[in-house]
Amino acid sequence: MRLSLSSCSFFLSTFILILCSQVTFAQRNLDEALLLASPDMIAADSALKSHMETLATQAVSNHCAACHGANLTGQSEVPNLLDYDWLWGVSGFEMTVSEAVFEIMQTILYGVRNSECPDEIKRYGACPDTRFSQMPGYGELGFSEQQLNDLVDYVYSISGDEHDSTAVERVAGLTVLCAECHGDDGAGYKAFGGPDLSDDVWLFGSAR
Ligand code: HEC
Ligand code: HEC
Repeated sequence: MRLSLSSCSFFLSTFILILCSQVTFAQRNLDEALLLASPDMIAADSALKSHMETLATQAVSNHCAACHGANLTGQSEVPNLLDYDWLWGVSGFEMTVSEAVFEIMQTILYGVRNSECPDEIKRYGACPDTRFSQMPGYGELGFSEQQLNDLVDYVYSISGDEHDSTAVERVAGLTVLCAECHGDDGAGYKAFGGPDLSDDVWLFGSAR
């Protein structure tokens, strides 16, 4: 079954309203209560919170630790999930904790560049609702060695690292290409998973 985010949050709040008016969480089975509770409600309820932590610790070690590390702090090419630097969805301008949680939930439910689903439901070669974008390989697209090197200086100029400003000027006409996914100021575009190039967090390392 597939859930869209908006219907998901609508159903969740409706369920929560019905639940609150009829029964208390203490009477419900903890698993069920956890499914129906909003992130804020879980945070405020110590029994739910500890049940959630027990389930999550198990799930993390079974399904996530191999890539994100046992403590989820990531490794080369796999993001740290404990910092506040998000590739997908979470912009930092969310009005509630739940909004951010639903963005993260979409990534976990549908994956990133996931194509393991029946062909007839694929869109552009990927499963529906999966996070998807691919950075073009500009070397393969025929950019010259100098243009590629200049683009590295452009990236360093955004991240505040040492750079050659003549190189950055030379390549100015091409940087509009990058803005599509990394944002006008290079500070990332969460809808396309374009990382923030202005911070000091690197998925693939900071070497030229
Ligand atoms: C096979 C390796 C692998 C496994 C297993 C894995 N991840 Fe990931 N995860 C990645 C990679 C790589 C990315 C970065 C995707 C990208 O480049 O956009 C990622 C991204 C994410 C993101 C998005 C982070 C952001 O900054 O937006 C979340 C959330 C996440 N993973 C959660 C999980 C959870 C929870 C599990 C376990 C249930 C898990 N992952 C299992 C490799 C993995
Ligand atoms: C179509 C979208 C798209 C375009 C256009 C694009 N990028 Fe990217 N870029 C991405 C995505 C997505 C990633 C992260 C890849 C991943 O998740 O594994 C990325 C990653 C990067 C990284 C690595 C960041 C890190 O933390 O290690 C750099 C550097 C970068 N891009 C520079 C550029 C430059 C320079 C341009 C323009 C010439 C550009 N990108 C154009 C989507 C794009």
